[in-house]
Amino acid sequence: MRTVRVELDDRSYDIRIGDRLVDDLGRQCARLGLGRRCAVISDTKVAPLYAEAAIQSLKAAGFEAITCNIFAGEQSKNLRSVNTCYTTLAKHRLERKSFVVALGGGVVGDMAGFVAATYLRGVPFVQVPTTLLSQVDSSVGGKVGVNLRAGKNLVGAFYQPQVVLCDLATLDSLPEREFRAGLAEIIKYGIIYDARFFNWLERDLDKLLARDRKALTRAIARSCEIKAAVVGEDEKEGGLRAILNYGHTIGHAIEAITAYGTYLHGEAISIGQILASELSAGLLGMPARDVVRVRHIFQRAGLPTRIDLSRAQTSRLFAAMSLDKKVSDGRVKFVLADKIGSVRFGQSVSDVAIRAALENQS
Ligand SMILES: NC(=O)c1ccc[n+]([C@@H]2O[C@H](COP(=O)([O-])OP(=O)(O)OC[C@H]3O[C@@H](n4cnc5c(N)ncnc54)[C@H](O)[C@@H]3O)[C@@H](O)[C@H]2O)c1
Ligand SMILES: [Zn+2]
Repeated sequence: MRTVRVELDDRSYDIRIGDRLVDDLGRQCARLGLGRRCAVISDTKVAPLYAEAAIQSLKAAGFEAITCNIFAGEQSKNLRSVNTCYTTLAKHRLERKSFVVALGGGVVGDMAGFVAATYLRGVPFVQVPTTLLSQVDSSVGGKVGVNLRAGKNLVGAFYQPQVVLCDLATLDSLPEREFRAGLAEIIKYGIIYDARFFNWLERDLDKLLARDRKALTRAIARSCEIKAAVVGEDEKEGGLRAILNYGHTIGHAIEAITAYGTYLHGEAISIGQILASELSAGLLGMPARDVVRVRHIFQRAGLPTRIDLSRAQTSRLFAAMSLDKKVSDGRVKFVLADKIGSVRFGQSVSDVAIRAALENQS
């Protein structure tokens, strides 16, 4: 088992990465000095696979667990699900020392985290992320929340968990497409922060694709370390945290114009990171060789590397980008790379340059 410490003063916590950690959930919670009662919040795909093991482990450690399951999928990340959970928690009289366990992907983690942050003005919260994306991204950093009809993640809070348990065994049941989407965020950490990690990813990508435990442990641990380091310096998104959005300005816009139905998030940011690298070559002199390496690794990971847009779609893409929250002074701000392993945030990019990058995709 590997442990990554997230240093945030009195809100510091550990991320543990290892095999069959769901079976260890009770013991891990017992170390935290929490109340005896808890709610395991999960979804309709994950609960049949792992809730029983989680509850058995909690019981064996002396906890009393109730469950609350939401329908699997992004449509459930809303205030109705939050309300359902509040009602269940209140019905079973969970109190201030009781805790919430989020067992599932980023949807469950974000929604259950928001429930934990707000029920009785905050109860302790344990994350058991079960997708690759949630293990390397959404479970680190303390952003919790839900969507409104008006847009994604419009309601939320910063709320840190007590511990995060990344169980590698849960990844065995993850559909291939979801797994590859998670790799897009892992590759991102190499590009924005750590050239050596990127080199290693290039070398051992096949092991990762085969879900080799040792390779996964290294990839998840390093990703969490990098996100923790960035968030540790900038918990509430004053500046540096923006680098985590490499490839996301265009990626989010691609998701928006395809009504979140064509691409998974990881797929959209794969295209976005390749386009950001092309822009970086033109604007910051990112070496052409690095751009090729970026494109190649996403290709090998089985992720989309280009997008063909009609003229109308291109206009909608620009409209979506200007609605994105990274716009300031009326200009869309990008994270761009000098080279693999080193990026700068707050870079102004002209529409002409973006248009050229879209037209010259190879
Ligand atoms: N809080 C943050 O900082 C942050 C960062 C990135 C993303 N997010 C959020 O995370 C969400 C996406 O997370 P996600 O990609 O994990 O999606 P998800 O939670 O919807 O999971 C994807 C699918 O896989 C299923 N699943 C989960 N674990 C499984 C397993 N082990 N085996 C089989 N099936 C499994 C789920 O039921 C779901 O159908 C989005 O809502 C996004 O906004 C939050
Ligand atoms: Zn992302």
